[in-house]
Formats: sequence, structure tokens, C-alpha cells
Amino acid sequence: MLSYRHSYHAGNFADVLKHIVQIAIIEYLKKKDKPFTVHDTHGGAGNYLIDSDHMQKTGEYRDGIERLWDKRTEVGVIDQYVKLVKQLNPVGKLREYPGSPSIAASLLREQDRLQCTELHSTDFELLHKRFAGDKRVRVEKLDAWQGIKAMMPPQHRRGMVLIDPSYELERDYRDVLPALQMAMERWATATYAIWYPVLDRNRTEHFVREFIKAEMPDLLRVELCVRPDASGRGMTGSGMLIINPPYTLAQHMAQAMPLLKEHLCDTGGHGMVKRLTGEGA
Ligand SMILES: C[S@@+](CC[C@H](N)C(=O)[O-])C[C@H]1O[C@@H](n2cnc3c(N)ncnc32)[C@H](O)[C@@H]1O
Repeated sequence: MLSYRHSYHAGNFADVLKHIVQIAIIEYLKKKDKPFTVHDTHGGAGNYLIDSDHMQKTGEYRDGIERLWDKRTEVGVIDQYVKLVKQLNPVGKLREYPGSPSIAASLLREQDRLQCTELHSTDFELLHKRFAGDKRVRVEKLDAWQGIKAMMPPQHRRGMVLIDPSYELERDYRDVLPALQMAMERWATATYAIWYPVLDRNRTEHFVREFIKAEMPDLLRVELCVRPDASGRGMTGSGMLIINPPYTLAQHMAQAMPLLKEHLCDTGGHGMVKRLTGEGA
């Protein structure tokens, strides 16, 4: 029984970082005409209405997308992200926040493909309905890891995989690395982006160390903590581990980090862009 609903958290500071990284990777893939596939293991509902009870109940988007909505930063990856969210809100007011599948779909070209898995019945239905009729998009009601087995490798050699569990269960932390290894055996040429929360610093560092120990080639870590680390006081930050990142990503995220800190962090917040393995580590 899944209790996590992304509709309570959409557009929060963690989504901002995750979706900036996602857009930067897809934009890099688009530099060549050759088609690519985006695989989204934990798709969520696709789109989230700001006025919904869920979003209003937590108000998390106010400390995320809302803080960037009116900003023009002159930093490419941030401005691309804000522009994309604005395109989905043509009335000029933030009414809807796009989830990762909607972000990917709005960037795909005719030749590219998106495939998503989502297990929650309600969110699956919403996601499925959203893309009904879009021949570029495939949505399956499948466990994320089963989806990797069933849907990888996709038809294209180029692409990215977003792995975005809710980490509701301790098992979620343990499952990611073996699932990633299984995916990489099937599709070695893709870029993999794994989201993780910062709730407890020791837990987070243990999680990251496992990837270094597994000798993941070319591993980049990007993290933004909006508050000082404080175990037991909720999510203070989040990060992404990126395997096979575009060679431009570290530099682009390093440019973005000071501005993300300025706009999203409280006193004591901190950010990091660090190569953990590969060139420059
Ligand atoms: C953090 S949310 C995804 C948000 C989405 N990627 C985005 O950025 O908009 C995690 C999602 O994973 C789904 N989920 C949880 N366990 C799953 C599993 N084993 N397989 C597939 N989906 C799962 C949840 O229902 C939830 O919608």
C-alpha cells in the first residue's frame, strides 16, 4: 500500500533541483538530431494544480518554484527551468506545476520517446490520461524495478533515466543501487539521475558511499540543503547522483548553485557540485 502522494510536495525546493538537472540533461541530448528515450521510473501524477487541497495544505511550493517564478537569473539552466514552467502557465500566474513526465514530454521532439512507470493507482490513472493520444509516450502501471526489467533497453541508445523514489521505506534506499546496476547492464550508454533526500546526514552519506564503493564510472553529485543538517527535523535538503553526466553539467550546476542558494536557502543552507568518480574527481 503506497501512501506517498507527490501532490503534497510538487514544486518544493527538492523538485526545483531535480527538475533543473533533468532539463539540463535533456537539453544536452537535444543537441544532436539523433533520437533519445527518457525513462522515468517513478512518474507520479504528471501535473499538479497549485489550488488543490494537497498543495495548499503543505504550501511547500512557496519555498520552491514560487521563489524563482519572477526571477531572471541569467544562469541558463535556471532560466530554462523557469521558462518551461511559465510555458505551462500561459496566463502568467503559477496555476500548475509540471512533474517530471510533463517536463520531459514538453522537451521531446517528434523522434524522441518517454516511458514511465508508476505504481499508485490514482497517480497512474492521472498520468495515463494525461498522455493518452501522445504516441511518443508510454505509461505503465508497474513497479519501478520491474519496469527496468520489462522496458530496458529502449529502442534508442541515447537517453536518460530518472530514478525518483519517495524513500518512504528504508528498503527504498537499499533497492536503488542494485536496480541501477541492473539498468546499466541493459542500457550502459544512458545518463542516470538518482534523486535522494537529506533527512539524516549519516543516512545520506552512507547512501552516497555505496555508489562510490560500487565504482560507478563518472559520478557527479549535486546537492542543495536549504537549512543546516538537522536529523529528525524533516527534509533539510536533497541531492542528485548523476552517472554518465553530460560533460557540461557540472559546470552549469556550479554556475547555478550560488543563485539557488541565494533564492532558496535559509541561513546555514549549503550546496555542493562534486565529481565523485571519473575525470576531475
Ligand atoms: C517522488 S514521487 C515522483 C515524482 C516525479 N518523478 C516528479 O518529479 O514529478 C515518487 C512516486 O513513485 C511512486 N512509487 C512509489 N513506489 C513505487 C514503485 N515501487 N514503483 C513505481 N512507482 C512507485 C509513488 O506513487 C510516487 O508517485
